[in-house]
Amino acid sequence: MKIVWRLCLIFSLFNSVFVFASPVRHLCRPDQRDALREFKSEFIEVQFNTKIATWRNNSDCCSWDGISCDNNTGMVIDLDLSFNFDFMDSSVSLSGPLRYNSSLFRLQHLQSLNLSWNNLDGVLPDSIGNLKYLRVLSLFGCFFVGKIPSSLGNLSYLTDLDLSFNNFNSELPDSIGNFKYMKVLSLRGCNLFGKIPSSIGNLSYLTELDLYYNGFTGELPDSMGNLNRLTTLTLNNNKLSGNFPFLLLNLSSLTRIDLSSNQFQGMLPSNMSSLSNLEDFDISGNSFRGPIPSSLFMIPSLIKLVLERNHFSSPLEIGNITSSPSKLEELFLGENNFNGPIPGSILKLVGLRNLGLSFWNTGKGVVDFNIFLHLKSLVALDLSYLNTSSMVDLSIFSHLMSLERLYLSGNNLEIRSSLHLPSPIRLLTLSSCNISEFPKFIQNQTGLVYLDISTNRIGGQVPEWLWRLPRLWYVNVSGNSFSGFEGSADAIQKSEDLFVLDISSNKFRDLPLLPKSLLYFLGSENGFSGEIPMAICEPVYLDTLVLSNNNFSGSIPRCFENVDASISVLHLHNNSLSGILPEESISVYLTSLNVGGNKLSGELPKSLINCTRLEFLNVEDNNFNDTFPFWLRFLPELQILVLRSNEFHGPISYPGDSLSFPNLRIFDISDNRFTGTLPSDYFAGWSALSSSVNNLPIRLEVPSTFYYHRSVALTNKGLKMELVWSGFKIYKTIDISGNRLQGDIPESIGLLKELIVLNMSNNVFTGHILPSLANLSNLQSLDLSQNRLSGRIPPELGKLTFLAWMNFSYNMLEGPIPQGTQIQSQNISSFAENPGLCGDPLQETCGKEEEATEQEEDEKKEEEDEALSWIAAAIGYVPGVFCGLTFGHILASYKPDWFLRIFRSFS
Ligand SMILES: *[C@@H]1O[C@H](CO)[C@@H](O)[C@H](O)[C@H]1NC(C)=O
Ligand SMILES: *[C@@H]1O[C@H](CO)[C@@H](O)[C@H](O)[C@H]1NC(C)=O
Ligand SMILES: *[C@@H]1O[C@H](CO)[C@@H](O)[C@H](O)[C@H]1NC(C)=O
Ligand SMILES: *[C@@H]1O[C@H](CO)[C@@H](O)[C@H](O)[C@H]1NC(C)=O
Ligand SMILES: *[C@@H]1O[C@H](CO)[C@@H](O)[C@H](O)[C@H]1NC(C)=O
Ligand SMILES: *[C@@H]1O[C@H](CO)[C@@H](O)[C@H](O)[C@H]1NC(C)=O
Ligand SMILES: *[C@@H]1O[C@H](CO)[C@@H](O)[C@H](O)[C@H]1NC(C)=O
Ligand SMILES: *[C@@H]1O[C@H](CO)[C@@H](O)[C@H](O)[C@H]1NC(C)=O
Repeated sequence: MKIVWRLCLIFSLFNSVFVFASPVRHLCRPDQRDALREFKSEFIEVQFNTKIATWRNNSDCCSWDGISCDNNTGMVIDLDLSFNFDFMDSSVSLSGPLRYNSSLFRLQHLQSLNLSWNNLDGVLPDSIGNLKYLRVLSLFGCFFVGKIPSSLGNLSYLTDLDLSFNNFNSELPDSIGNFKYMKVLSLRGCNLFGKIPSSIGNLSYLTELDLYYNGFTGELPDSMGNLNRLTTLTLNNNKLSGNFPFLLLNLSSLTRIDLSSNQFQGMLPSNMSSLSNLEDFDISGNSFRGPIPSSLFMIPSLIKLVLERNHFSSPLEIGNITSSPSKLEELFLGENNFNGPIPGSILKLVGLRNLGLSFWNTGKGVVDFNIFLHLKSLVALDLSYLNTSSMVDLSIFSHLMSLERLYLSGNNLEIRSSLHLPSPIRLLTLSSCNISEFPKFIQNQTGLVYLDISTNRIGGQVPEWLWRLPRLWYVNVSGNSFSGFEGSADAIQKSEDLFVLDISSNKFRDLPLLPKSLLYFLGSENGFSGEIPMAICEPVYLDTLVLSNNNFSGSIPRCFENVDASISVLHLHNNSLSGILPEESISVYLTSLNVGGNKLSGELPKSLINCTRLEFLNVEDNNFNDTFPFWLRFLPELQILVLRSNEFHGPISYPGDSLSFPNLRIFDISDNRFTGTLPSDYFAGWSALSSSVNNLPIRLEVPSTFYYHRSVALTNKGLKMELVWSGFKIYKTIDISGNRLQGDIPESIGLLKELIVLNMSNNVFTGHILPSLANLSNLQSLDLSQNRLSGRIPPELGKLTFLAWMNFSYNMLEGPIPQGTQIQSQNISSFAENPGLCGDPLQETCGKEEEATEQEEDEKKEEEDEALSWIAAAIGYVPGVFCGLTFGHILASYKPDWFLRIFRSFS
């Protein structure tokens, strides 16, 4: 089991209290005992669930672990088989689907059922609605799929329902309105979509509603204004829209509102004082604008206010903060549209522990950093990327004795030689600060855990003393001009807790010996050459290894399959590696493998088939000589497959055996020597390309690549672009160009409604262009050039409004070019060398054609702009991290001490 996975579990369980029902000595009823026994026999791996494993035939079933009976009737009323985590062996517990006729449903008197963290993958059966006395139902993390059954609404006595972290992929049924006694409803991370049903307003006892990490859309139903006992409302990470939900202003019991990462917009209500019990208000990551209402700062109970990543302007209102002592401890205002000085009135908030003001545009004005001197309680201060002409004198912060985290990236720093920051300092980000010399004061910051000095101008050697800082955990020196490491070859190995080391984009020439503790090593874009040493596999838990864009030669080390070296991201692209891709370099934990741009040859290793988590496979630009890897379709999570520019050959389809890649989003097999025809149903099973619904399982883990952005180059509109992880959702591409595929274009191509780019050029396709191509309403780029297509271009293609670029040249097409602004605005060359084509934009008229407007120049420019904005969108995105944790947040929420302790306990 992967460490990162475990860490995430620990995070999510950190605050939970394990309650074990104390067994009750009472005579068990035979029917109840039999039902329990049968239930036990329905699962395959019961031995893992310690509770169920202790059930013995000859003892009173009411005394079995996890069971409580009614003292009078002997009926089982409480069943708790939630998985009891043993961090050392986190194998799943009960395994197998919960059947509709499961004997569980014979325990009709159950009042409380907890099956959390079992692997019940399958649907949640309708029969759950038969357990009608249930008050507490907890099915957290059970891997259920399919719909939430509407029979759940029969459980009208429920007070506490937790279905979080299942993969339901459905709407929330109206029947939830039947839960008239419901107090706590948790449906986090359930892949639910559609509107929040208005029947939710019937739950008048509701105190806690958690719907975060779903795909809910639209506005909140008005009926929610009835939920006047609600204290906690968490709706973050959905797609909710509309103005700020004014109905919340009636819910004065609310202590916590989290609407972050949605699509809300407009202004906040000017008077929010009715929320008189509010302690925690988070609306970050929306499109709210206008001033921040001063009434918000006057709510006396307010402790945490998170307004960052919106379009708020004019923070002057902060100036009207009440003079009464404020309880506010956390204030995040970063990434808004604030212009002008940072209001000095912030210093009235003397209790502030956490202050975020990043990306404040002072209009190049002067910032008086001395205001921060008054905030003596500050623990974390984020002043990164202020737009100011002032130099930030680091010595100001040496007076803040509680300061642990200081973010100063993107500012001009003044670092005095006598500087010493307060000793609690653990995190320091000094990226893009125009620093030219390794800051010496760091040598004495013995508490430092996290250091980012990337993207500066520091050259020479990385000082040896850095590795003696006893608690160092994260070091990022990327984007400088370092040429080496001071000291002996094993200097870095002195850093025993180092977890992340990013040295990419420097001038290093020799690969250092890595400490055993390392999980992430990023070393791309340096001057490394020679063979990749076997020592690279020494860090026993190495998760991510990126050595791309260097000059490594020789073969790929055969050490990654080692069970301990559980590598999940292996990126070695753009080197000069040769030989085969050995089976021994394939770890079963791989999620992302990129060996593109080398000189590898031979076949793809069949052991890839055991990498059931593989999402990304890129072997482009090598000399692989193999047939099409049909067996890859057994990898359920494969999203990107790039075989471009190799010697792959043979058919890509077998008669009677349709290929199906349910989660594939990018399929690029261009420039190989594939041959044969494609049956008309070829694309029928490619669901991710035909529907916008996400079928990927929700995993209860931090994606192992949460640190590193996977990337792939994509040729589109003549541009090669880098695509980061986010792009996988946006870009859906099929590129089979440059092969020798023949026959008709498969009819089923019309099913791939989500396709953005389709390139079938430079093959030997014959027959007509199918009108069904017009179903691809998201298509932005279509290339059918250099084939032997005949007949007309279907007029329906004129309706594809996003289709900005197309190429039909070098075919045998004829007849008029269809009407439609997108088509007519194409360059003439897009239709060239088709003897029979006529009409706009070609010179040849079809007899009845008229005006031809030439907007080529404009169009070309627009096209480029658009392509650029794609890149910007792709680059600007930071992958969503399932547990909501990034490194910064981990450090913000958890004491690194504690983190390190946990980490040590694994090693
Ligand atoms: C318990 O009883 C069941 C059914 O009678 C039987 O199949 C099983 O082997 C018994 N288990 C033990 C440990 O005796
Ligand atoms: C049953 O009785 C035991 C003591 O005899 C008591 O501790 C327990 O709380 C009772 N359980 C219920 C559900 O009443
Ligand atoms: C169900 O079990 C899990 C794991 O043991 C626990 O965290 C959760 O609080 C339990 N749910 C209820 C409602 O007791
Ligand atoms: C439940 O249904 C399955 C088939 O759907 C059947 O094989 C099984 O015997 C049934 N179990 C019971 C307890 O009826
Ligand atoms: C806040 O103070 C400014 C300047 O003192 C004043 O112009 C403004 O009206 C005040 N706003 C509120 C809501 O009281
Ligand atoms: C580190 O601290 C020691 C003693 O506290 C001092 O002598 C030394 O000059 C400091 N070094 C730096 C680089 O500040
Ligand atoms: C996949 O793993 C199994 C079990 O470890 C092994 O027996 C099998 O040979 C592997 N398959 C390939 C193609 O390596
Ligand atoms: C590919 O391999 C086959 C036999 O395995 C061989 O005949 C063929 O020449 C190879 N092609 C190239 C381009 O190396």
